Amino acid sequence: MKKKMIILLIVGILIIGCGVFGFVFYNSKKLKIEYKNHITLNVNDEFYNTDAIKKIQNGTLLTKKVKIDTSKVTDSMYHLKVKNYFNKTKKIEIKYEVVDKEPPVITFNPTITIEEGTEYDLLTGVSATDNCDELVIVVIEGTYDINTPGTYELEYMARDSHANEAREKFTLEVTKKVVVEQPREGYKAPDRDFTTSNGHHGTVRDGITYIDGIMIANKTYPLPSSYNPGDIIGYVWEAFTEMKNAAAAEGIYFDLASGFRSYNYQKNLYNRYVAQDGKAEADTYSARPGHSEHQTGLAMDVGKVDRNYGNEPGGIWLAANAYKYGFILRYPYGKTGETGYIYEPWHFRYVGKELAPKLYNGGDWITLETYFGITSEYTY
Ligand code: DAL
Ligand code: ZN
Repeated sequence: MKKKMIILLIVGILIIGCGVFGFVFYNSKKLKIEYKNHITLNVNDEFYNTDAIKKIQNGTLLTKKVKIDTSKVTDSMYHLKVKNYFNKTKKIEIKYEVVDKEPPVITFNPTITIEEGTEYDLLTGVSATDNCDELVIVVIEGTYDINTPGTYELEYMARDSHANEAREKFTLEVTKKVVVEQPREGYKAPDRDFTTSNGHHGTVRDGITYIDGIMIANKTYPLPSSYNPGDIIGYVWEAFTEMKNAAAAEGIYFDLASGFRSYNYQKNLYNRYVAQDGKAEADTYSARPGHSEHQTGLAMDVGKVDRNYGNEPGGIWLAANAYKYGFILRYPYGKTGETGYIYEPWHFRYVGKELAPKLYNGGDWITLETYFGITSEYTY
């Protein structure tokens, strides 16, 4: 009887022991996964599906590492599979959200100066780029009046399709209109800065107008009568010589027909034409004193001063090649409305090797007036 009791007790102890051991063993091999079940990402963040897992104990991840597409705003989920110590699989669900919190970036000019009455588009050169949207519209906020001189504090605003907004302040200076005084002998236009109708930067220094550094002499922008470089400027003469030699190497010959002309020289020339043809007609082909490019020392008549020169070998060669040497055909055919002068196949103006090819435009000449957004009109 006693023996039986002892056996039962031992068996009982063994069963409990096994149970305790089993419990302890099972618990020590229990799968533990630490992970984030909800993730918020920004557009274009780099994120892999497995990045959601912080730690796995007693198990292995079965799902392969793949990159999550964060290029677009979305609300989605994915699953990961984990195998535990006893080869059983478990699926976990990860929810993720891709959000766009980044506003567009506006590229702009903080200060715009225009002259009273200038029709200038304040969005010229302004753009907005965004991490999500291909196209973001920029609008101008604030009020201004291009006909009332003053300083206007305005703002560019751009909003992307996820309502992220960018704002940039800019200043619009509307300056008093300067009526370009036409040259009287001894007159010098006052120094000023201005923006042309298509956004180029103009300056008047010592009575001479420059746009983006290029000297301008036309019917609107005169030179002071005192401006007298004395001759064709040295580097222009060098460019002309280079051009002339290149033409000669191809069997084409031309020479200078008229180079630098002083204010007084032009005055006599113009007056002679007026006496001959009347003022209205003379104005179509001859510049009034102070308005001629010949006074700049940067322009020259080449070959023959003859309207048919454009059909002769010299004129044809010059029209097709002068730009390579920094010269432009200044008064192209059919551009009288822009330049103020009839076609002159002989008149070439040095603007440099950077600008000349742009104005050549594959043979479809862009005039200096159109390129810079300026006029060529007398006001007297
Ligand atoms: N023939 C050009 C326009 C001048 O007189 O300067
Ligand atoms: Zn000329």
